[in-house]
Amino acid sequence: MAAPTYPRYKSLLANERLPAAFVDLDALEANARLMLESGGSLPIRVASKSVRSVAMLRHVFSLSDRFQGLLCFSAEEAVFLAGEGFDDLVVAYPTVQEAAVRAVCECVQKGTRISLMIDSPAHIDKLAAIARDYYQPLPVVMDIDMASDFPGLHFGVWRSPVRSKEAVLGLWKLIRQYPQLVLDGVMGYEAQLAGVGDAVPGHAVKNAVIRFLKSLSAPEVFARRAMLVDALRRENAELRFVNAGGTGSLRESITDSSITELAAGSGFYCPTLFDNYRGLRLQAAAFFALEVSRISSPGRVTCLGGGYVASGAAGMEKLPQPYLPFGLSLDSNEGTGEVQTPLRVPSDIKLKVGEPVIFRHAKAGELCERFNELLLVRGTTIEARVPTYRGQGQCFV
Ligand SMILES: Cc1ncc(COP(=O)(O)O)c(C=O)c1O
Repeated sequence: MAAPTYPRYKSLLANERLPAAFVDLDALEANARLMLESGGSLPIRVASKSVRSVAMLRHVFSLSDRFQGLLCFSAEEAVFLAGEGFDDLVVAYPTVQEAAVRAVCECVQKGTRISLMIDSPAHIDKLAAIARDYYQPLPVVMDIDMASDFPGLHFGVWRSPVRSKEAVLGLWKLIRQYPQLVLDGVMGYEAQLAGVGDAVPGHAVKNAVIRFLKSLSAPEVFARRAMLVDALRRENAELRFVNAGGTGSLRESITDSSITELAAGSGFYCPTLFDNYRGLRLQAAAFFALEVSRISSPGRVTCLGGGYVASGAAGMEKLPQPYLPFGLSLDSNEGTGEVQTPLRVPSDIKLKVGEPVIFRHAKAGELCERFNELLLVRGTTIEARVPTYRGQGQCFV
């Protein structure tokens, strides 16, 4: 496998318009193998928000039969992907937007399996009211909360309010009252294990605290998930799947025997935030290149573009990072700018106007919201150019 060197990427990009986004297929495929190995023998539902390119999703599915189904981020996206020929689509985040739900119901009528997320009577009532206009029942998935509440600390995300046996059985009872709905599965995403880095360089104390909290949280939430799934099964819920985990928790999540499948997506591209997990050795696989557009002073260059800041609580770790040539750094006053990104350059690196600087994004799929096209590179060739969702004119949330 060709090493990720500046001369290699520079020569690949020699005739390309910049900014350009590219994916190193060898690295992506190595990441896919590592994710499969980390997931034991379970199938992995691909988190599409972390890929955001139809062609890349197809490529991922071509790599292993254990990549099964999609975890989508919007109902409209699921409909779009159904139109592209994908099946077994679970929309991971609830919505009751009528037009989108109707479009989903129409796909379900035609035989595509799309399931919508619910965590409250409001979701169930609204989805049922729409689904009654269609003869095929609409599959729904129950999102259960996997956060840990420690004294003075909510360790996890704020998503589903469903965390007790009474709550799951209450929703299950309501779903059964509606013949137009069918409970398809359960999703319990342990975000505090899967999405919080615990090997961040320069943060030894914080890393130790996070690892300690993770070690307390994992057994508690795994036991809760098993208990809630068991309670549903005892009340005759026929669950097609119990989904859990994410790239950062594959090895831990498989220790919970109540789950039947994993979810993961970020690991394919491995953005910078996924460098920071203990025991997860993914390779950077998705990049973007900016041109050096001026030399502002000795020891500095300025690139055109670059302000592709990742979502979540704002912090320096959400900024893209210069990657190649090694040793460049952002200017802390300016970060990555709306149209220009100044960089500090060590004295042994000579960059000229027009040459590329290679960056990595902090998160996976969000990179694709900034580019119409991904160049797929392998070794010394550009094997293909494929559109992102944006390149297909799609923008969902
Ligand atoms: C419900 C759910 N499952 C799984 C994931 C994991 O995705 P990834 O592997 O891209 O981190 C996420 C990410 O936010 C999620 O929201």
